[in-house]
Amino acid sequence: MNFLKLNSIIKTVFLLFLVGLFKPVFSQDLTLVNNIDGRYKISLNGHWQILIDPYENGFYDYRLKESDNGYFKNAKPKTKQELIEYDFVKSDYLNVPGDWNSQREKLELYEGTVWYQKSFDYSVKKDKRLFLYFGACNYYSIVYINGKKLGEHEGGFTPFCFEVTGKVNEKENNIVVKVDNKRRADGVPTVNTDWYNYGGITRDVYLAETSENFIQDYKLNLEKGDFKAIHVSIKLNKEEVKNLKLSIPELKINQQIETKKNGEVSFTIESKPILWSPENPKLYDVYLINETDTLKDRIGFKTIETKGQDILLNGKSVFLKGISIHEEIPQREGRANGIEDAKLLLSWAKELGCNYVRLAHYPHNEAMLRMADELGLMVWSEIPVYWTIHYGDPKVLVKAKDQLNAMITQNINRASIIIWSMANETPVSEDRNNFIKSLCSYTRSLDNTRLLSAALEISHKDNNTNILDDVLGEYLDVLGCNEYLGWYEGKPEDALTKSWNTIYNKPMVISEFGAGALYGFHGDKDERFTEEYQENVYINQLKMLDKIPFLRGMSPWILADFKSPRRQLHGIQDGWNRKGLLSDKGLKKKAWFTLKKYYQIKK
Ligand code: GCU
Repeated sequence: MNFLKLNSIIKTVFLLFLVGLFKPVFSQDLTLVNNIDGRYKISLNGHWQILIDPYENGFYDYRLKESDNGYFKNAKPKTKQELIEYDFVKSDYLNVPGDWNSQREKLELYEGTVWYQKSFDYSVKKDKRLFLYFGACNYYSIVYINGKKLGEHEGGFTPFCFEVTGKVNEKENNIVVKVDNKRRADGVPTVNTDWYNYGGITRDVYLAETSENFIQDYKLNLEKGDFKAIHVSIKLNKEEVKNLKLSIPELKINQQIETKKNGEVSFTIESKPILWSPENPKLYDVYLINETDTLKDRIGFKTIETKGQDILLNGKSVFLKGISIHEEIPQREGRANGIEDAKLLLSWAKELGCNYVRLAHYPHNEAMLRMADELGLMVWSEIPVYWTIHYGDPKVLVKAKDQLNAMITQNINRASIIIWSMANETPVSEDRNNFIKSLCSYTRSLDNTRLLSAALEISHKDNNTNILDDVLGEYLDVLGCNEYLGWYEGKPEDALTKSWNTIYNKPMVISEFGAGALYGFHGDKDERFTEEYQENVYINQLKMLDKIPFLRGMSPWILADFKSPRRQLHGIQDGWNRKGLLSDKGLKKKAWFTLKKYYQIKK
């Protein structure tokens, strides 16, 4: 065995040893992220007072040590000569949820810390527990209540919570949150992305009340290939034998349940639900009842699997007619969030003729997944293991796993999700292979009912043949592949003579192809950034893709123009990535109609 091989084995063992040692690096509390909508909660959305703190003067003293008198104290001078150099009340406010970039011109490109402050009263109930829930804060947040630190959270697109039972008063409780959106080399994502670094409390904030021992997690699903039995697993927050009831009225299910001593139970019920599909997105009202709480959800039942180079939804071959979507409303130039935004984005996808969407490049807000359930759109959901994150750093692996865990815990019961994606366009290396292989096995340990994929790149060309032979293919169920023939490589017409091959007996999904066009800019089809150029790329791409026997889906890049500081071409891009089929005002470019026509006839 040569030295290099031995070296990589030692490194891998060391990495696995380290990761095994690592508890989640941050107080990544996921106690209450499964179906927050179905729980009794008080919204803390609305105006939050803010302090913009680029020097983090509210956190460090002048020797750069964490200060005991930071802004989290929300202190007021007790005498007229006491020196306090901040006052939330007299400061500006921001709407929560919402990124700060689109709310204040001076924050448009701001990357740093903003302090948020909110006061609330709460009628304390002896028999209730209380949790403070955040849908997401981008990127790194530290949360305080009544002057005491609750914990920290890293990751800009996943929910987290802190228990505040016994930490709140009847009057004038004071939450302070330090949100820092600076990009970090050891972050997930790292410092270079092709999307806008929106900062802030970008999703909902709630106080959620629960009983002493509540239903924390649950999962209802069909087993692959079996449409006559629903598998149920339930986990209480505490280890205790408790009696519960599961009710699905439309299926005439009223099942008395008893958890084991460890507070968990799993079982299978004979039942033949109407299967969820894009053509018939059937959802059932599901009630989980214990002596004090009734937890309601809306759940669809489907199976997704691969068979050789095919993808089977409910046992039938399906072609994923998709589009990629960023979590952004172009007209508002801000992060999308909530039901109305989800309805706008996903109704566009339906109008385009899609049965599938790639929610790029990070976990989207829960309303998107629930709307996809309702509208009948299959979903590729992804964590931002994007481009050049630090694959050799065990702490980065823990962060990526934290984000996977949160994304899966939150959305485990969403029928629309068919694919968990591990990564996007990751440079091939030993570290990267080990990193993503580890993510794959971790994901399968959390959920074996969905398919695993990643957006790979063509690593091997042989004359006019693209060969997909990335080693990651061994660990994935579906081979995602981004390719930009006609935009970043060659001419659009080169697609007509390009063929494809793979070493794997697995289905491929083209997770990205596309071209830029400024809406309303017309010219010859060989003039960059004209609508005609983009249309011509789509025409030639679709002819090429139609000939690939192991292609089972596509999600062209992208539904709508989106903001990106990488895109500097004045008069054309002006800080926007123009690969949208819709402009930044939601107007349809010519290529929209090309793809729509293709999906109308595609089987
Ligand atoms: C890459 C990447 C996208 C990016 C796109 C582009 O494939 O995955 O995030 O926006 O190309 O260059 O427009």
